[in-house]
Amino acid sequence: STATTLAGSNFDNCMMNASGVYCMDSDELLAVENSKAATFVTKSGTLQPRKGNPEPRYFETEFGSINSMGLPNNGVDYYLDFVSQDQINHPGKTYFLSITGFNLAEDLELLQKVTDSDFAGVVELNLSCPNVPGKPQTGYDFETVDAILKAVFDVYHKPLGVKLPPYFDIIHFDQMAEILNKYPLSYVNSINSIGNGLYINDDTETVVIKPKQGFGGIGGEYVKPTALANVHAFYQRLNKDIQIIGTGGIQTGKDIFEHILCGASMVQVGTALMVEGPVIFERLTAELEAIMAEKGYDNIEDFRGKLNYL
Ligand code: DHB
Repeated sequence: STATTLAGSNFDNCMMNASGVYCMDSDELLAVENSKAATFVTKSGTLQPRKGNPEPRYFETEFGSINSMGLPNNGVDYYLDFVSQDQINHPGKTYFLSITGFNLAEDLELLQKVTDSDFAGVVELNLSCPNVPGKPQTGYDFETVDAILKAVFDVYHKPLGVKLPPYFDIIHFDQMAEILNKYPLSYVNSINSIGNGLYINDDTETVVIKPKQGFGGIGGEYVKPTALANVHAFYQRLNKDIQIIGTGGIQTGKDIFEHILCGASMVQVGTALMVEGPVIFERLTAELEAIMAEKGYDNIEDFRGKLNYL
């Protein structure tokens, strides 16, 4: 079985969408809901609805994608209303609500709305949007991450995880893990896109997306080694009660197997879900099941985190 347990809830499969993909409105969320995915996470909701950056703002390349969406979303109230209703329609299912404020006060205001609602699922606090002009990725400001988590856990006591940007230095893994280990996080989700890459068309000698002169977050096959490194680095360093969601470069069941081997308890699919649509979860499930059968693994705990070293 590909079942898993995360943040105290059981899921009949270990895969779901990555926030930003197939989760902007109720139609997209229901398409994921009605697929083989275990559950869904909503588009990161802000206090106010946003139109996001000018188009074109998403582009598929041979090995992945580049995007600079700029947090287009229907506003946190829309997603809170939707998930609060959906959990009534599907007793026993657990959903993920992604939120992102533009500062600590906004994060706390967003969480107050969650507290005041009937939502009984898991909050994913996004500390890593790379695409809002003039706004740094919070996850690269270690002191601010610490201050946000301190304030968040002073007021919020239900399951909450964080979505992090990729890190590229062993000392940064050490420093971030030391901060994360101070808090009762349910999980860490690594990675968000590799921020501010540049993809160009050499025939036309132009960039391929309009915002930020073409700079945007990179996803897909390009990012898998970075994603696996972040998953495993945090698996090695985090308290065992902080679980890991692995996101980045998943196109096949083999990619999911590798994320789990590196320590992930659940995985999220972004670029490949954008390309193939929610039907992808049938193929991914069948491929992961086939690998597990061949290796004689009955469930994902048989190999999770058990990466070997030379
Ligand atoms: C967007 C991109 C991200 O990687 C993210 O974490 C949040 C928002 C965006 O551009 O909409």
